[in-house]
Amino acid sequence: MRIAVIPGDGIGQEVISAALRVLARIGDVVDGGIRCDVFDWGADKWLAESVGLPEGSLEVLRHEYDAILLGAFGDPRIPDMAHGRDILLGLRRGLDLCVNYRPVPLQGGSLDVYRENTQGLYVGVGGTVCVGNTAQVAIDECVYTRDTVERFMQYCLADLRRRGRARVTLVHKSNAVPNTGGLWQDVFRRELGRLPGLEGTEEYVDAFCYHLIRDPTRYEGVVTSNLFGDIVSDIGAALMGGLGLAASASINPETGFGLFEPVHGSAPDIAGTGAANPYGALMCVVLLLRHFGLETVANTLHSSLSEAVGTRAATPDVGGTGTTSAFTDEVLCRLNAK
Ligand code: NAI
Ligand code: MG
Repeated sequence: MRIAVIPGDGIGQEVISAALRVLARIGDVVDGGIRCDVFDWGADKWLAESVGLPEGSLEVLRHEYDAILLGAFGDPRIPDMAHGRDILLGLRRGLDLCVNYRPVPLQGGSLDVYRENTQGLYVGVGGTVCVGNTAQVAIDECVYTRDTVERFMQYCLADLRRRGRARVTLVHKSNAVPNTGGLWQDVFRRELGRLPGLEGTEEYVDAFCYHLIRDPTRYEGVVTSNLFGDIVSDIGAALMGGLGLAASASINPETGFGLFEPVHGSAPDIAGTGAANPYGALMCVVLLLRHFGLETVANTLHSSLSEAVGTRAATPDVGGTGTTSAFTDEVLCRLNAK
C-alpha cells in the first residue's frame, strides 16, 4: 500500500508523526508492506514559494498512491487560510472525493455520518453587489447535480449495509430549500428502494440536531448535504468527547481513493507543547486500514487505542496527564503485546 503523507501545519505535524510511528510498526504485518512518502505542503511552503497544491500533484497522487493521510492546515501568519483552501479544496475537488465519512462512537452505540463533500452551498457560485465599497446584496448558490447525489447515495447506502446497519436517516430542509432538498429526497427514496433491508427515515435538519443532542442513539446512519453535514459532524465530535478524538475519510466512490484526516485543525494554541492528542490521527489509520480490507490489523489497532485512552498516558484534553509521544508509546506497547 502506498500512502502520501501530508502533515501540514501546527499540531498536524505532531499527530502525523505519531501516525507514522504506528504505520511503521504495522507495515510488517501488511502484505506488500506500507510505503509512506511525506509531502511538505503547507504554510511554510506557501510563504516561501507561494505554492499551495503544487502543479501536477493530482496526477502523481492518482497514479502513484492509494490514499492520503493528512494532518491539518492553519497558520496565524496566513489569517485567510488561503494555502489550506488551495490544498484541501484542490484535493477534494481534483480527486473527486464526494463522500466524507465520519464515525461517531457513543456510549451505548455509534453513529455513521456521511456528508457530501464537493457541491451544495460550497460550490463557490455567487457574488456580491456593492454600492461603493459596501455590500448590499450577497448571493451564495446551493448547486447539486443528480449524478453527484446518486454516486454519493449509492456509496453511502452500500457502505452502511456493509457495516451491518439497519437504519439510515436523510437529513434535509426541503420545506425551506425545496429544489435541492427535493432532488435529495428523490434520490434517497429511489436508491433505498434498490436496497432491501435498510430502513430509511427523513428528518429536517433543525429537528434532527435537537434529537441528536438529546438522544444520539436514536440514529445509526446519516446521509446529508455539504453544509448540513459540516455542522452535524461537529456536533458528532462534541458528542464523542472532543475534537482530538474525531477522524474522517473522504472517498472517491468509483476509484476508492481515500483522503484520511483528523477533524481538528492546527491548534496553534497548543502547538509545540506536546499536548496534542494523536487519537484522531491514529483513528484515521484505523479507517484507512479498514477501507483497504485490512480488518484484523485495523481491529487490533482500534482496541489498542481504546485501551490507551483510558490510561494516564492519555493527553490532557481527554483527562490524562500524558503527551503526544507518551500516548503513542502506550498505543505501541499495547500493539506489541497483541
Ligand atoms: P482547532 O481544531 O485547531 O482547535 C480548536 C480547539 O481544540 C483548540 O483549543 C485546540 O487546542 C483544541 N484541539 C484541537 N485538536 C486537538 C488535539 N488533537 N488535541 C488536543 N486539543 C486539540 O480549531 P481552531 O482553533 O478553530 O483553528 C486553528 C487553525 O486550524 C485555524 O487556522 C483553522 O483555520 C485551522 N483549521 C484547519 C482544519 C483542517 O485543516 N481541516 C480544520 C479546522 C480548523
Ligand atoms: Mg467543519
